[in-house]
Amino acid sequence: MDAMKTKSSYICSECGYKSPKWMGKCPGCGSWNTMQETLETPDAASRTKSIASPLQAAMRRGARQMRDIKPGYEKRQSTGLKELDRVLGGGMVQGSLILVGGDPGIGKSTLLLQICRSGVTNGKILYVSGEESEGQIKIRAERLGIDNPDLYLLSENDVETALSAIQDIKPEMVIIDSIQTMHIDAIASASGSVPQVREATNAFMRLAKGMGIVVFIVGHVTKDGALAGPRVLEHMVDCVLYFEGERQTSFRLLRSVKNRFGSTNEIGVFDMTEKGLIEVENPSMLLLEGRNENISGNSVVCAIEGSRGVMAEIQALVTPTGFGNPRRMSAGIDLNRVILLIAVLEKRAHMNLSNSDVYINVAGGLRIDERAVDLGICAAIASGQSDAVIPPDMIFIGEVGLGGELRAVSQLEKRIGEAAKLGFSSAIVPKRSLKKIKVPDGFAAYGADTIDDVMRLIKRK
Ligand code: TYD
Ligand code: MG
Repeated sequence: MDAMKTKSSYICSECGYKSPKWMGKCPGCGSWNTMQETLETPDAASRTKSIASPLQAAMRRGARQMRDIKPGYEKRQSTGLKELDRVLGGGMVQGSLILVGGDPGIGKSTLLLQICRSGVTNGKILYVSGEESEGQIKIRAERLGIDNPDLYLLSENDVETALSAIQDIKPEMVIIDSIQTMHIDAIASASGSVPQVREATNAFMRLAKGMGIVVFIVGHVTKDGALAGPRVLEHMVDCVLYFEGERQTSFRLLRSVKNRFGSTNEIGVFDMTEKGLIEVENPSMLLLEGRNENISGNSVVCAIEGSRGVMAEIQALVTPTGFGNPRRMSAGIDLNRVILLIAVLEKRAHMNLSNSDVYINVAGGLRIDERAVDLGICAAIASGQSDAVIPPDMIFIGEVGLGGELRAVSQLEKRIGEAAKLGFSSAIVPKRSLKKIKVPDGFAAYGADTIDDVMRLIKRK
């Protein structure tokens, strides 16, 4: 009858929750004012379903005995970038959909263009960009040293055109840059909205699974750190990688937050240069580069990122408060943790910081979210306050409790090993952990029970 009759529904832009009527608070994720009206024509809905329908039909099969099923998942291909392979759990898995998220300008397009080198796949590669013209991509690719006769470029926003290009070219790997610029005509709402992003991803997923190809999807992240449009995407795809780093520094981290084919523990480290992204095999060296050893307020810690120990410098600037309440600011460390540690220092180590502003920074742009660096933060603040320089070859490892006690941390031996490798020769660690570990020759590990002990130890050195 009336195929033109439009129906509207409300979809949460945060989590994709769908409701027939407007609500102030999303019942799905509890966010306020995120329910947005979307128009759906019944006609449009059925046309969406028809996308890639032959493939869908091919996949609509009954249950089979497990032993008859060939997973095909053991086939992994290297991306040519060791750091990326590591995060993917050893390479790309055939037929997988990989979402690469990150802030605009962080380097997602650069990373994915860099894996388009010759020899990465046996077959063709298709790079679909909704953001740049083919010419622009070519210039960038050439600058990155990519000269691959099997690389096809397509500047396109329309999902159906992109899908038919994939069916024509039959590539082994497809890159969609970015999902927010892709548009399905049959859906009324704008590009980047939840229904668009979800249906476009769905269409690419069916194709990836049906043809057994690897599809990378770029997704921009909103200011509050969520993939725009997108927890809906996170559960659809096989892997979700986040590319992060400070725009001002060249340090970039690739983290996996979901991986159906590997662990989510690993991180990849890159350095953004004018020649593109360079893999960093030894992040500690990069992070400690340019360290001034003779300044008070600096301490060195070792965090564990993935399976690696990563050394970083914690900087504390402690200055007299000019007026009003003392300020506390932090970059790279959770501010609440810093405030808590300042309180512990005041109460348990009898430091007076109530008239001092404290600014904390992790040099190099690394974000550390690990309790094992507590002691390093405390040491940096103490050094900044007293103007006593910490011995340059010393590192600090330990969680600090509210009672001022030093608590054991995991993988102490690995952390000390990393420090020794980089030429450090002493560490202050929780006394209790000291018995259980082997310390390299020539390395001195001092055990301490409380934060107060540590302050005395530093003063003696
Ligand atoms: P880009 O990959 O376009 O970011 P995204 O796709 O995540 O939005 O990277 C953009 C930034 O990277 C840009 O500001 C310039 C910088 N860049 C380099 O420093 N070196 C390079 O070789 C390239 C290609 C980009
Ligand atoms: Mg881009």
